[in-house]
Amino acid sequence: MTDAAHALPLDETSRTALAAEGLDYALVDTDDAAAHERWLQAYHRGFHSEALNPEQVAEYRTSLAGPRLVWVRDATIAEPQHPVATVGAWRSTVSLGHAAEAEAWAISLVTVATTHRRRGIARALIEGELRSAHAAGLPLAALTVSEATIYGRWGFGPAAHAADYRVDTRALRFTAPLPPGRVHYVSVPSLRHLAPSLWERASARGAGEVPPRGIHWDRMLALSARTTTHAPKLRAARFDDAHGEPQGFVLYSIAENPDDFAASTLTVEYLCAATDDALIALWHFVLDHDLIATVVASLRPVDDPLPWLVSNPRAVRTTARSEHLWLRVLDVPAALEARRYAAADSVVLRVTDPLGFAEGTWMLTTTPDGTATVTADGAAASAAVVELGAAELGALLLGGSPASALRLAGRITESVPGSAARLDAMLLQPRAPHLSTWF
Ligand SMILES: CC(C)(COP(=O)(O)OP(=O)(O)OC[C@H]1O[C@@H](n2cnc3c(N)ncnc32)[C@H](O)[C@@H]1OP(=O)(O)O)[C@@H](O)C(=O)NCCC(=O)NCCS
Repeated sequence: MTDAAHALPLDETSRTALAAEGLDYALVDTDDAAAHERWLQAYHRGFHSEALNPEQVAEYRTSLAGPRLVWVRDATIAEPQHPVATVGAWRSTVSLGHAAEAEAWAISLVTVATTHRRRGIARALIEGELRSAHAAGLPLAALTVSEATIYGRWGFGPAAHAADYRVDTRALRFTAPLPPGRVHYVSVPSLRHLAPSLWERASARGAGEVPPRGIHWDRMLALSARTTTHAPKLRAARFDDAHGEPQGFVLYSIAENPDDFAASTLTVEYLCAATDDALIALWHFVLDHDLIATVVASLRPVDDPLPWLVSNPRAVRTTARSEHLWLRVLDVPAALEARRYAAADSVVLRVTDPLGFAEGTWMLTTTPDGTATVTADGAAASAAVVELGAAELGALLLGGSPASALRLAGRITESVPGSAARLDAMLLQPRAPHLSTWF
């Protein structure tokens, strides 16, 4: 789903703004090994990670050859060849539910050196990425974030949430009917080929997923130079349906409890289910272990049926719930028309957007078969009407953040009473939008 993104030209507005501060903003030539390594080391320093060793550099050079890498350099510092800021981005997609998807500019790897922070460099980088993506005709930009306080100012809103669960396996019985088919232990490397295709089928079932790039699979499967020490701990099981077709897999590790050998902890590192049967069978496998007292799983859907699969829902505690996928609408008609809707209605969206991309009055009209049309400056006497900012539009797009809650919070207003509730009825998804990985 990703492609070489180098062709997108660098944004001239940001180049000019940074040049006025004496800073050089440029694309990184990833064929230049020394330059590429300097970018990689700066990015790792920016996230407080260890310096990369040569093997890791070689691996990153391959994995980060696809994304468009940008750096900022300062000719006045002691070692001016090293960048003071980094960003990387690539063409990707976001699943929208009902097997629909939209193209998106996935932005990542954003760092600004401690010596250069709070001078507007990140602003220039992010706005530059947004202008580049908009100029290329992409309807959305997407992010996962280190802190939830940063990206709203650039029109990103939290579009999909994720939950962490902690299960007391000794306080429950598995009560859901077990589906036909079998769970098999498989070697972890055997999933390198299978996992992306199962992921693709699983992600088409709901909204919010962004395809992991190859390096993400290598890391998840402990096949990368950065994760080899984890490899001995990582185990895998695969669910095959009654016809012997693989329909899902789980990656997990077990940490022994030094005080009680019979009360170890199993960590679900990734559970991918392309069918409901796979989900049920893999949860059963995970919860059914001897010598395990606790199962933990993170980045799961907020509406994971797990508590309903067992006799004691309180034995399944949600230990965290956070926003995870952030979306920024760059083309309102293209973004809204790409998805399906749960109710036929009309709503006028009056969007304010200081960056201009989503600004305007848009009429969204949906039909009983779930399709939508969006017209600029449209109006209808019967239409619902809401006023909102670009970040709120991003939050609402997948149906993962309720318009009613945003209205209560004063984040959107309705000029026709009941408009937020009508919008919620339109945007509703059969399952909560969910992003299962970081990017
Ligand atoms: C987050 C980071 C990229 C910000 O870079 P920066 O160049 O200092 O940011 P800017 O000076 O352009 O700030 C732009 C705005 O964002 C705000 N901001 C920046 N970092 C922020 C943070 N961590 N939390 C809240 N607000 C932040 C600034 O106050 C400023 O606000 P304004 O719009 O009111 O003027 C930088 O601090 C960093 O590299 N952090 C560590 C790595 C990281 O977390 N990267 C983000 C990955 S998603």
